Amino acid sequence: MKHIRLRDLEVSRIGLGAMGMSHGYTGAGTDEAESVRTVHRALELGVTFIDTAEVYGPYTNEELVGRALKGRRDQVVLATKFGLISHSGREGGTDSSPANVRTAVEGSLRRLDTDRIDLYYQHRVDPGTPIEETVGALAELVQEGKIRYIGLSEAGPDTVRRAHAVHPVTAVQSEYSLFTRDPEARVLPVLRELGIGFVPFSPLGRGFLTGTIRSTDQFDPTDFRADNPRFTEENFRHNLRLADEVAAVAAQVGATPAQVALAWLLARGDDIAPIPGTKRVARVEENSAADAVRLSDEQLARLTGLPPAAGDTHNESGMRMMER
Ligand SMILES: NC(=O)c1ccc[n+]([C@@H]2O[C@H](COP(=O)([O-])OP(=O)(O)OC[C@H]3O[C@@H](n4cnc5c(N)ncnc54)[C@H](OP(=O)(O)O)[C@@H]3O)[C@@H](O)[C@H]2O)c1
Repeated sequence: MKHIRLRDLEVSRIGLGAMGMSHGYTGAGTDEAESVRTVHRALELGVTFIDTAEVYGPYTNEELVGRALKGRRDQVVLATKFGLISHSGREGGTDSSPANVRTAVEGSLRRLDTDRIDLYYQHRVDPGTPIEETVGALAELVQEGKIRYIGLSEAGPDTVRRAHAVHPVTAVQSEYSLFTRDPEARVLPVLRELGIGFVPFSPLGRGFLTGTIRSTDQFDPTDFRADNPRFTEENFRHNLRLADEVAAVAAQVGATPAQVALAWLLARGDDIAPIPGTKRVARVEENSAADAVRLSDEQLARLTGLPPAAGDTHNESGMRMMER
């Protein structure tokens, strides 16, 4: 597995997203043993970058990751997120006040069973707290050794600049894949200007680009995708063409669609480390092997030229929290 640098933090260029082991998708939380085996297999395959968040579960995903990493903590770059749970009861979905950051980090450290978080992201920008105050609190946590590097998620260019002026931002994590191209226009150029790394989340288009989702009937009502505009009726039918194109390139190169979706992202730059999510050993093996898949210039151009997916990436309340 090749490694890249997110600013000055070295990570495997393919990571592992742990969210779906406990949260968000059909089947989450049903097989802890297989989830733990998946984390262990990822480590054996050279994946050193593990992603979780306080809000996944909530809390249970960090606990699971903490258990899975027992005795193996030093082998990984461990990333988690704060800011979508208010510990003081503030309403509105986001709380990145300094007091909340301080409470959140103690909980994450405890659940992850560790003395430091390698990369600590704000999960969504908090309109109620100036970013300078949040980053000021994070800088103190760096000084105290509780966190090593700081990140932002779904932050727009202005917020990134303001945050970076207070303390270096190591990485921004936002949705990016052939399913979601939004960061290309405004955010990626700023990250490159400032030397900040980029972590694409949902790099398989929440599973859509793997070609295994051909009907929305397969989602249970708690599944994030059940009321997601990209997965509903007309948009879903329209978007199937994207999955079909990825599958066509996969057939040409003798890889799987998931591997092609990841290989396309890896070809976007050495400052990018996607974190595909799975709770299954076989899929972490498949996804990690994308490190060795090479796409020709022609195949890359064909994929890059695909039209954007139809429909918003989140439902209405989720969209209100996105800065792009
Ligand atoms: N910052 C944020 O706001 C944010 C938001 C969402 C996600 N994330 C992070 O990003 C990570 C990855 O994103 P994601 O999990 O949303 O989406 P993703 O990686 O695009 O796709 C995950 C989905 O695809 C399935 N899958 C994985 N590999 C597959 C393969 N080879 N073939 C067929 N299906 C496959 C998984 O099912 P199985 O698990 O059953 O294999 C799961 O349903 C998350 O785990 C989380 O850590 C961050």
